Amino acid sequence: MAYETILVEQRGAVTLMTINRPQALNALNSQVLRDLIEAFAAYDADPTQHCAVLTGNEKAFAAGADIKEMSEKDAADFFLEDFFSGWTSRVTATRKPWIAAVAGFALGGGCELAMMADFILAADTAKFGQPEIKLGVAPGMGGSQRLTRAVGKAKAMDMCLTGRMMDAVEAERASLVSRVVPAAELLDEAMKTAAAIAAMPPMAAMINKEMVNLAFETGLNQSLLTERRLFQILVATEDKKEGMAAFVEKRPGVWKGR
Ligand code: HXC
Repeated sequence: MAYETILVEQRGAVTLMTINRPQALNALNSQVLRDLIEAFAAYDADPTQHCAVLTGNEKAFAAGADIKEMSEKDAADFFLEDFFSGWTSRVTATRKPWIAAVAGFALGGGCELAMMADFILAADTAKFGQPEIKLGVAPGMGGSQRLTRAVGKAKAMDMCLTGRMMDAVEAERASLVSRVVPAAELLDEAMKTAAAIAAMPPMAAMINKEMVNLAFETGLNQSLLTERRLFQILVATEDKKEGMAAFVEKRPGVWKGR
């Protein structure tokens, strides 16, 4: 099956998905999200496939939700579409295991997408961050919740409040990623790891995944809904408009604090 914004190929029992919008550092626009939903559903439904790898390119896994697209929406659009709700729940509903192989930027929605994976393998070039605050908003697809559960309150607050990036060494130390490998070996290592998982008893793999997620996610749903509602409130502010316009116009934002 051909997609507009991602490349999908099967190597044995492993599905490799590559986000392919290099001109926008793989920013996640609606088309990428639609393509990912379909690709994950197809992977989950294909009895020959037992593990998947999601990756980007050497510069970016994904530099966030598409700011240009979001800058055109107002608060009612975000609320009425229940922005991001449908796709995050469908990606995380994938029952079979999948790995995020991250090189370069994984920022905002890109970091949130990577954190939806069962685990993250990072290249030594990987940079993680939740820089939404700089746009006058906040994480809206699980970042504040998944990051906090993964790295703890102090580091999650530091990341969300300063919007700074975390490099691969810090990400491994903080348990955000399971392993760091040299960038040139990332894809090989991810495919080898996926092949090893794909060789496991498939139901056991699915149930192991479900069990670990149970520990991780209990109580999460309420926080995700609350996070989404808060995000949908924040996009009503003047600073959201200013932050996104400033990005598009390549100038520093001027904040009103409201
Ligand atoms: C749209 C993006 C983008 C994004 C980069 N681009 N990130 N377009 N949305 N998130 C585009 C740029 O506009 C530019 O296109 C091209 O990709 C290359 O980017 P540059 O900025 O020229 O590259 P560089 O100087 O190397 O800087 C890399 C960067 C920077 C530090 C990653 O691009 C950046 O700060 N990006 C935004 C990161 C971010 O704020 N992410 C969070 C988004 S909010 P043109 O055509 O202009 O040259 C989010 C919310 C999620 O994710 C929750 C919602 C519910």
